[in-house]
Amino acid sequence: MSTYPSTKRSGNSDIMNDRIHNFSAGPAVLPEPVLQQAQEDIWNIDGTGIGVLEHSHRGPTIDRVFEEAEARCRELSGVGDDHEIIFHCGGSSQQFALLAMNFLPENRTGDYLVTGNWAKVAREYGESYGNTHTAYDGSDCVFNHIPTGDEINYSDNPAYVHYCSNNTIYGTSYGAPPETDAPLMVDMSSEMFSRPWDYSAHAMTYACAQKNIGPAAGSCIIIEKELLARTNAGIPKIFRYEDNAKKGSRLNTPPVFTVYMMGLIFKWILDEGGVDEMATRNQEKAALIYDAIDSSGGFWIPHAQPASRSMMNIPFRTSDPELDKRFLAEAQEQGMSTLKGHRSVGGMRASIYNAFPRAGCVKLADMMREFARTNG
Ligand SMILES: Cc1ncc(COP(=O)(O)O)c(C=O)c1O
Repeated sequence: MSTYPSTKRSGNSDIMNDRIHNFSAGPAVLPEPVLQQAQEDIWNIDGTGIGVLEHSHRGPTIDRVFEEAEARCRELSGVGDDHEIIFHCGGSSQQFALLAMNFLPENRTGDYLVTGNWAKVAREYGESYGNTHTAYDGSDCVFNHIPTGDEINYSDNPAYVHYCSNNTIYGTSYGAPPETDAPLMVDMSSEMFSRPWDYSAHAMTYACAQKNIGPAAGSCIIIEKELLARTNAGIPKIFRYEDNAKKGSRLNTPPVFTVYMMGLIFKWILDEGGVDEMATRNQEKAALIYDAIDSSGGFWIPHAQPASRSMMNIPFRTSDPELDKRFLAEAQEQGMSTLKGHRSVGGMRASIYNAFPRAGCVKLADMMREFARTNG
C-alpha cells in the first residue's frame, strides 16, 4: 500500500518554496503531501514498476485505488449502506443534466433554489429535460444572501429540491440544508468536506473534483439507493447512475488519475483530523480576511451579507475599479495570484479551500490592511 508523509509537510504549513499563493476558484491549490505522493506514483505506484497513469483500470492496483477512495469518502461523509458512492467522469455541469435525466419523471417537477450562477445553470439543464420550478431566485439582490424559509416557495410535491450549498462566485453558503420533505439534492462543488454536513439526509450530493477534492475531470457523488431505484426508464446505460454504481464506477474507462487524487486528498483530510478540523482551520483562515474587510471602515466592500458568508470563497472590492486593478497587480507582485473576482461581481475573490495555507490568508489580510491605510 502506498503511503505518504502525511502531516509532516501539511498543506497548511508555511513552506511555500518556489510556489506562490494560488487563490484560484478552481482548478485550485492541492495539498502539498498529496502532490508529492502523486509525483512518486506517476513513476511507479505500489512498487509495481508501472505508474498510476499507465495501469489498467481493471487490475488490482486500480481496484485498490477505487476501494480506498470509496472507503475514505464513506468515512468523511458518514453515510451508511443506504447510500452509494460513485466517481464519475463528468464535472458538475454534467451532473446538472444527468440528475434531471435520471430522476425527473415526465409528469413531475424539479424544484430549484437559485442562489447563484451555478444554481441557475443547474435549473436550466433541468429545464432542458423536464419541468422545473424556481422555488427561490436571488438575482434581484445579485445573490448576496442565502434565502430564509419564508423567501422559498416550493411547488406542490416536487420530485426533488436542488440547491447549491456554497456559491463559488458570490461567496455565500447555507448554514443548514433547506427544509423540505422532498428528496434533497445538493451541489457541493466548492466546499465538499470543508465542514460537517449531513450527507445522510440528502438523496444526492455531488461535487466536481477541481476545487476542494482533486484535479479536474471527474465528480464525487453520494447517492441514496432508494433514489437509484427510481431511475427514469429509457436512458442510455452510460448515463444511468444506477449502472455506474453497480459497476463500481467502472462501467467504462473512468478518470483513474482524478479518482486516485481524490482518494489521496480524502486520506489527507482524515490524517489532518477530519472534517471537523478542516472546519476549524477554514473558519480561522476566513476570519483573517473578513476581519480585514470589516475593520477597514468601509474601504473594502464585501459581496455577501454577514449571515451568509462562505468560508471558501470571499468576494470583495473597493468603490473604485481602478483601485481594484492596482490591488490585483500589487498582490501578484507579492506572490498572491488569481485574486481577480468573477466578472459578474468584479473586484477580488479569495478562494481559500481546505488545502490553501493559513500563511496565504495572513499575507492577504496584511496587504489589505496596508492598502486600505495608504489608499483610503
Ligand atoms: C458550485 C459550482 N457548481 C458547478 C460548477 C461547474 O463545474 P464544472 O466546470 O465541473 O461543470 C462550478 C464551477 O465553477 C461551481 O463552482
